[in-house]
Amino acid sequence: MTCTVDLADLLAPPAGSRMRRREFIFGAGTSSYQIEGAVSADGRVPSIWDTFCATPGKVLRAENGDVACEHYRRWPEDVDLLAEMGVDAYRFSIAWPRVLHADGRTNPRGLDFYKRLADRLAERGIHAFVTLYHWDLPQHLEDRGGWLNRDTAYRFADYADLMSRTLSGRVSAWTTLNEPWCSAYLGYGNGHHAPGHQNTRWATQAMHHLLLAHGLALPALRANDPAAKVGIVANIGPGYPANDTDTDRRAAALFDVYQNGWVLDPLLKGQYPELLWQLWKGCEPLALAGDMDVIGRPIDYLGLNYYSRSVLRAKGADDFEWVRQAGAEHTTMDWEVYPQGLQDILLAFHGRYPNLPPIYITENGMSSADKVDADSVDPIDDGQRQSYLKRHFAACSRAMDEGVDVRGYFIWSLLDNFEWAYGYERRFGLVHVDFETQRRTWKRSALAYAAFLRERAEETA
Ligand code: FCB
Repeated sequence: MTCTVDLADLLAPPAGSRMRRREFIFGAGTSSYQIEGAVSADGRVPSIWDTFCATPGKVLRAENGDVACEHYRRWPEDVDLLAEMGVDAYRFSIAWPRVLHADGRTNPRGLDFYKRLADRLAERGIHAFVTLYHWDLPQHLEDRGGWLNRDTAYRFADYADLMSRTLSGRVSAWTTLNEPWCSAYLGYGNGHHAPGHQNTRWATQAMHHLLLAHGLALPALRANDPAAKVGIVANIGPGYPANDTDTDRRAAALFDVYQNGWVLDPLLKGQYPELLWQLWKGCEPLALAGDMDVIGRPIDYLGLNYYSRSVLRAKGADDFEWVRQAGAEHTTMDWEVYPQGLQDILLAFHGRYPNLPPIYITENGMSSADKVDADSVDPIDDGQRQSYLKRHFAACSRAMDEGVDVRGYFIWSLLDNFEWAYGYERRFGLVHVDFETQRRTWKRSALAYAAFLRERAEETA
């Protein structure tokens, strides 16, 4: 008996879903340090991630982004992959250290790389969603305090001005920052990411300067590239109380300001959540008059990166701890698979922020131990990823049915790549990368995505 599988159906959103409409954007994402390699090519200056990776004990197996996916050289092949997949949009980031020298001069060779990439995407009819900062701060700025130094926010605005003048007309959407929570908390609070500091007070100050940088960059982006949308991307996640008790509900509320409100309240309400200062007493950042107005400047869209949920229980009166859901499905990141959380959090934000801008899911996806079987002609069958995506698409679709304005969805990631402190072990790609040979191999989820996008194009033609 033969069993034919409808490829598209392995991950497609449900029949009748608003996500099947032509105007809904489907894409895939990457970031500069995670894929480009070529860290000393064409005058690129070192970033904080080069330094962090070279510091013993910071990254699994002491791996680094020196080579990564060699995208800096292989980018035409990678654009071909996107075109074959049939995506509407590609989300990538610019490496600040490639485009500006330490003395403030621009680096034309770095700029040319991104111009060529944006041009090729346009030729292929793929929208460019361009992130200005996906964590690779030039090391020379870190040497002067990095995000603890208010001046870095002004330097970022200058960099945003340069890039939007350079790429004007080629970009559909600008993202100022990817996940300021990670830059601030993992970078300055618990030290899991570059630059590796461990000080909560520093984390809140870094966050303030990151958000200020975002607000300061907006006028130049709008003036230089008026047709493009401008926004920011936040990593968010719902928190659920472990037990239905007042103390655990408070634990979940504390988690919510730590994970979500810390970033979104300043952007959408013009203030930090009061509850945060009960979790982190005495850690309020130094803010100057007018800063909150700059941070709260209107944006055209909000990008949300969703991977998992948290379940919390109280740890004393003003703190929480995570409760691992032992029986639940997890990925190789040990992140719980919880699609319902995406619907829940979208609806929560919809209720909480009356001025919530249109949403793009700018990252969603999962890591698994995908291997190419040299003896097999079949592609890598990453069944868990297909099912993960299908269930998350359905959750997003349900939130849309309940009134949340979601405009697009980007799968993380186009390629297996350098997963920060976890190095190359955690594979998030739709396309497998053999890091010895740089060979790209489609996983079945990529084939299914392509089949779904083809089917949708036919349906809506
Ligand atoms: C996000 C990052 C992205 C990737 C995924 C797995 O936090 O933005 O670069 O590492 O997680």
